[in-house]
Formats: sequence, C-alpha cells, structure tokens
Amino acid sequence: MLTSLSTALVAIVLLSGPAFTQRPDATDRLDWAQQPHFKRPGAHDSVTVASTSAASVVNTAPVFSMPVANTSAAVHSNSTIRTKVSPGIFFTGGSTGTGSGAAQPTGYWNNTLTYNHTRSSAVVPSRSTSVPFASLNTTQYLATNTSSSKTQASASTLRTLTKSSSSNQTVSSTSGSATSATKSGTVASSTSTADPKIPFLRGVNLGGWLVLEEWMNAELFQDTLAIDEFTFSSTSNASEALAEHWATFITQDDIADLVGTGINALRIPIGFWAFDNDNTPYHQGQDVYLEKAIGWAKQYNMTVWVDCHGSPGSQNGYSSSGRAGIINWQEGDNLNRSISVLETIAAKYGAEEYAGVVVGIELTNEPMAGGANNLGVTRQWTKDAYAAVKAKVANPNLQIIMHDAYAGIDSWIPTAQSIIGKGPKTFAMDTHLYQLYTAADNALDQPQHITKVCGWADTLSASNTVVPTYVGEWSVMTNVCVNPDNTTTSGTSCTTTGCQCQADAFGTWNAAMVAQVRKYVEAQLDVFEASSSGYFAWSLKGPGAWGFLNGVDGGIIPKPLTAREFDNQCSGSTRRAIRGSLGVAGEYW
Ligand SMILES: *[C@@H]1O[C@H](CO)[C@@H](O)[C@H](O)[C@H]1NC(C)=O
Ligand SMILES: *[C@@H]1O[C@H](CO)[C@@H](O)[C@H](O)[C@H]1NC(C)=O
Ligand SMILES: *[C@@H]1O[C@H](CO)[C@@H](O)[C@H](O)[C@H]1NC(C)=O
Ligand SMILES: *[C@@H]1O[C@H](CO)[C@@H](O)[C@H](O)[C@H]1NC(C)=O
Ligand SMILES: *[C@@H]1O[C@H](CO)[C@@H](O)[C@H](O)[C@H]1NC(C)=O
Ligand SMILES: *[C@@H]1O[C@H](CO)[C@@H](O)[C@H](O)[C@H]1NC(C)=O
Ligand SMILES: *[C@@H]1O[C@H](CO)[C@@H](O)[C@H](O)[C@H]1NC(C)=O
Ligand SMILES: *[C@@H]1O[C@H](CO)[C@@H](O)[C@H](O)[C@H]1NC(C)=O
Ligand SMILES: *[C@@H]1O[C@H](CO)[C@@H](O)[C@H](O)[C@H]1NC(C)=O
Ligand SMILES: *[C@@H]1O[C@H](CO)[C@@H](O)[C@H](O)[C@H]1NC(C)=O
Ligand SMILES: *[C@@H]1O[C@H](CO)[C@@H](O)[C@H](O)[C@H]1NC(C)=O
Repeated sequence: MLTSLSTALVAIVLLSGPAFTQRPDATDRLDWAQQPHFKRPGAHDSVTVASTSAASVVNTAPVFSMPVANTSAAVHSNSTIRTKVSPGIFFTGGSTGTGSGAAQPTGYWNNTLTYNHTRSSAVVPSRSTSVPFASLNTTQYLATNTSSSKTQASASTLRTLTKSSSSNQTVSSTSGSATSATKSGTVASSTSTADPKIPFLRGVNLGGWLVLEEWMNAELFQDTLAIDEFTFSSTSNASEALAEHWATFITQDDIADLVGTGINALRIPIGFWAFDNDNTPYHQGQDVYLEKAIGWAKQYNMTVWVDCHGSPGSQNGYSSSGRAGIINWQEGDNLNRSISVLETIAAKYGAEEYAGVVVGIELTNEPMAGGANNLGVTRQWTKDAYAAVKAKVANPNLQIIMHDAYAGIDSWIPTAQSIIGKGPKTFAMDTHLYQLYTAADNALDQPQHITKVCGWADTLSASNTVVPTYVGEWSVMTNVCVNPDNTTTSGTSCTTTGCQCQADAFGTWNAAMVAQVRKYVEAQLDVFEASSSGYFAWSLKGPGAWGFLNGVDGGIIPKPLTAREFDNQCSGSTRRAIRGSLGVAGEYW
C-alpha cells in the first residue's frame, strides 16, 4: 500500500518517465454505465507528466474536463442556495430547514423523475421536480488526455511526531475514574468504557477543509459548475485553489482559539484519495495538512480522530464523500480498496509515535443504509475492516470507529459485541444526531426538539455500555422561529411582528433566538456528557451558526462546554457520569 510519502515517491518516479498509462477506472465504471448521459472514454490515453517547480500539490490524477451547464435547465444556485443537480444526483429538491442552506442530495433525478435515496423504483412524489436546478451536460465528464502538470510535495513537510512528548498524554485520563449514574438508571456501569485509556472526548469536526463541501466552501465553488470535490478537481485552477484552501481555511490560530472552550478532540475528515487517487481526478497534498493539524492538536493537548470521510465509489452519494450523486461503494473492488486505504492510514497514524494524539481512526462516514448499500454487507465489511486496521496499528489503545450507517446504534450492538468479544474496547460506534433533515423533525418547535434530545439518552447509554459510543456530529441548528413571547414555531419564516427564525442570518439573531438555540445546545451537551463517550460539533468553520467558533462567540455554545445557563433540562441525565476525567491534561477550567 502506498503511504502518502510513497505516493510522493511514486510521483517522483513518474516525473522521471515520459508518461504513465491510465489504468481502467474501477471506481467509477458502474457509475458511468448507469447514467445514460455518461459515456465511458474509449481506449485509455497516456497522460503526459510535466514537472513544474515548487508547489505543495501532488496531482497524480488524470485530468477530466469540466461539465458545462445545460443552459435550458434552470440553475438552482445563487448566493443563498447552491445546488446544481445533474441527472443522477441525489437531492431533496430544496432545503427544508436552516440546515446546510442547500438541498441535501438524498433523491435520484434522471432528468424526468425523482427517486428516493435508496434508488428503489418508488418515485418520490415530492416537490423536487418543481425546484429549479441546473442539469449539467454530463457528456462533458469524459476523461481526456490533457496534459497534467505534476509537482511534488516536499518530503520535509511530511513530518512525523516524536514519540517522547506524546506518549504519556493519555495517562491522566484514567485518573478521574468514572462515577456512575446517579439517577434513573439511564447511564450504564462506569466500567463500560473504561478502556482503552482515552479521555472523554469533547470535540469539534474540521469539516469543509480536507474534503470540500459545496455548502461550506461556497466561495471556492462560486464560479465553477462543480458540485463536489470530484468535479471541483477538474476545474482549471483546482490545484492552486485547493492548495490555498488547505493553507487558509483552518490554521493553527483556529485551533489556538479552541483553548479554553473545553474542546479536547478534533475529528478530521479526509478522503480516500489523499492516500490513493489512482484513476480519479482528485488532487493530493491534503495529508500534509492532516499532519499539521495533528501537530497543532499535540501542541494544545488535544486528541485526533482521522476520519475516512470519503470512501471509494462513494458510500452515500453526498458531496461530503467527495462525490455527489452516486453510491457505488459496494460495487466492484471498492470495499477492498476502502480497506486498503484504511490499512495505509492505520499503519501511519496507528504508530506509537502518534499515540496520545491520534486516538481514533474512523472506517467510513455515513454509509447509506439500504438501496445501493446492503446493510449486511456494511456490517461484514466493518468486521473485516476492523481486523485489517487492528492488524496494522501499533498503538494498543487506538479506537477504530464505525458510523452506524443510519441504522441506529442499537442495531449495531451484536456486531460490536462480536468484534470486541472479551478484548479491550478498541472498537467504537459513531452516531450523528441532527434534528433538521426530516420533515418530522422540521415540524417540531424548540421544546419538542429538546424533549427529543432528552430521549436520546437511553439509546446512547445502552450502546455505550457495550461499545464506546460517540456522537461524531451534532449541530446547534433546528428549524424554528421564536416569537416575542418566547414561544417557538417550526419553519423558516414567520409573520408575527418581532419574530425571528434560525433561517435568518446568524448575525441578525435576537436575544430570544440566541437563548432558544443555547437551550437546545445545552440539552444536547447534557445528554452527550452523561450517556456517551464523547461528542463532536459540526463544524469548526461552518457558515453562520454552523461554525463552532461563531457559535461560541455568539453565545449559543457555552464556553467552556460544561458551563450552563439552563441547567438540568433532561431529568435523569448526569453530566460526566461515564468518564470522570476531562481533557487529556485533566480538568483545567
Ligand atoms: C437540459 O435540461 C432540460 C430541462 O431539465 C432537459 O429537458 C434536457 O434534457 C437537458 N439536456 C441535457 C443534454 O441534459
Ligand atoms: C436565490 O434563490 C432563492 C430561492 O430561489 C431566492 O429566494 C433568492 O432570492 C435568490 N437569491 C439571489 C441573490 O438571487
Ligand atoms: C426516468 O425514469 C422513468 C421511470 O423509470 C422513465 O420512464 C424515464 O424515461 C426516465 N427518464 C430519463 C430521462 O431517463
Ligand atoms: C425509499 O425507498 C425505500 C425502499 O423502497 C422505502 O422503504 C422508503 O420508504 C422510501 N422512502 C421515501 C422517502 O419514499
Ligand atoms: C454536451 O457536451 C457535448 C460534448 O462536448 C456536446 O457535443 C453537446 O453538444 C453538449 N450538449 C449540450 C446540450 O450542451
Ligand atoms: C492527447 O495527447 C496528445 C499528446 O500529448 C496531444 O497531442 C493531443 O492533443 C491530446 N488529445 C486531446 C484530445 O487532448
Ligand atoms: C512517561 O511515563 C513513564 C512511566 O510513568 C515515566 O517513567 C516517564 O518519565 C514519562 N515520560 C515523560 C516524557 O513524561
Ligand atoms: C487560482 O487560485 C489561486 C488560489 O486560490 C488564486 O489566487 C488565483 O487568482 C486563481 N487563478 C485564477 C485564474 O482563477
Ligand atoms: C498541555 O498539558 C501540559 C501538561 O499537562 C501543560 O503543561 C500545558 O500547559 C498544556 N497546554 C495547554 C495549551 O493546555
Ligand atoms: C476482496 O478481497 C478478498 C480477500 O482478498 C477477496 O476474497 C475478494 O474476492 C475481494 N473482492 C473483490 C470484489 O475484489
Ligand atoms: C424572551 O427571552 C429573552 C432571552 O432570554 C429575554 O430577554 C426576554 O425577556 C424573554 N421575553 C419574554 C416575554 O419572556
């Protein structure tokens, strides 16, 4: 398997030869075949590799030309709403909440009809088709043999951490040994997650950084027709734009700003292509920034999850997987290739020199359950991937984490039990708890949202008894408006004089809205503190209230995370019950 360093070396080797031959495209073949407007390129051409001087991006990818707009289709993309939908893209047909500010790709559009995300034959009788959107001319997705300039990453930037100063960092985590639940039996035995020796994780995601998401990186996508990193990668200025994005979107200063918030963990999404971009248009060089972030984490006594957010073939069809519109993860060689990439990640970040900083590797993010993905296959893959990763890691405490595939963490208990057996709990579960992506959630007022939050405690703690269970993503956002009398209603717009909606720009939120959101946030934190092994906000740098640092500044997220303005909203939940210790360096606030 190629490590990132050896990938760079391969690039160097390529630079010395005249050309390399593009191999058959295993990742994308099925996708091309399924989509009527896609044409497979014929015989593979060779790609001329030209060396250019110093730059930090390694592009070993063949160059794909950009799709052009189908000008007869309306464009569902402006500064407010940015979704461009080509046939085959999964989408809902419009944001139903304050969510991402963009349609979520959960449907399947074939230019005539809309299907649901499972790709079943059932046509979703939704408003989707009445929403204006762009249909890209997908015939333009043809691979070409355009010359591609390749540069090499400086090996010196692929720095590794020294063992000496990091290896003792987990020690303090065991000292504040867990206290058990005090009320209502919702919190499991304190021994449940006592090992491996990882502190309770209060984390934040570094989303939209090493994997682009259009809604989070609107400026970057602004003048392109790209809908995801896959298509972005083929825009004319992609390698420069990516290099600048990686260098500026999240910097050491942002991590320094987390000091004092109580954050002790960073979940860092990165795509498979950072380690293996063969026969894809993806650029490389982002692993250098993963390294930097790990160094910052170490400097500020934080821990890291390396989260393989995009798997070969796309595990969910979301742009967050790198490629919107397809789910081909379980086709062809993709599952095996996913494991191969994880082995590369594991061999590197599971090494002893990262112990105490890198505490987790996440196998994949949000694989869709059903439809193009078979959940049974996902569960078996999880066992296989766990075994493969475990075999590569030297750090005995490193946790290997799996997202619940939207199937509910309770449904994973048998799988988790079979993986963990009598061994240390180095397998962990991740569930993502949002309340703004379903019609039912978007019909709730804020007290109902909070009631629902409180209801999460039992499921979380039941799972956490068996397997360390994390809320790898949560958000401040719901789809509500607040009236001057402080009652709330669901929706994105309101008519009462003086009312305010979360859909309004974050900077305009009034005190009543800030208070409502803070209540919801504190209820979530109470439950996560009591019933999980840790939690990660989405996301450090998000637009408006999606940005963790914005939220802290705006008073909707407590600083530190354990501070409360609205105590004990959920009866029965006890803060910090499972893991007593706070932070790698202990409780310092
Ligand atoms: C362009 O979009 C229109 C409207 O959706 C559609 O009827 C037409 O088939 C599209 N053309 C192509 C080439 O996709
Ligand atoms: C963007 O689209 C939305 C929805 O169609 C519309 O309400 C808004 O006015 C548009 N904004 C701009 C700047 O065109
Ligand atoms: C979309 O799917 C429907 C139902 O299968 C089919 O009748 C229609 O021809 C398809 N349209 C296109 C453009 O493929
Ligand atoms: C999507 O299709 C699946 C499988 O047929 C079905 O169970 C599910 O209810 C559908 N979802 C929607 C929103 O139509
Ligand atoms: C789509 O792109 C192909 C290839 O460039 C071109 O031949 C075709 O005319 C385009 N179709 C439209 C509707 O723009
Ligand atoms: C393919 O590559 C060759 C050699 O670099 C070049 O002469 C030719 O123009 C390229 N063809 C296309 C369609 O770009
Ligand atoms: C690490 O821990 C060991 C055992 O507790 C101790 O002997 C050693 O001095 C520690 N090293 C550092 C760098 O703190
Ligand atoms: C290319 O990207 C760089 C970095 O974002 C930017 O400074 C430059 O203006 C871009 N060039 C073009 C032609 O868009
Ligand atoms: C990190 O932990 C060490 C050892 O506990 C402590 O001396 C140092 O001040 C901490 N640094 C930060 C930024 O909290
Ligand atoms: C994946 O790897 C396993 C073990 O090497 C092998 O048995 C299986 O055939 C491979 N599957 C595919 C689809 O290549
Ligand atoms: C509504 O809540 C805000 C913020 O807590 C508070 O300032 C205001 O007095 C409340 N209004 C009423 C009518 O209770």
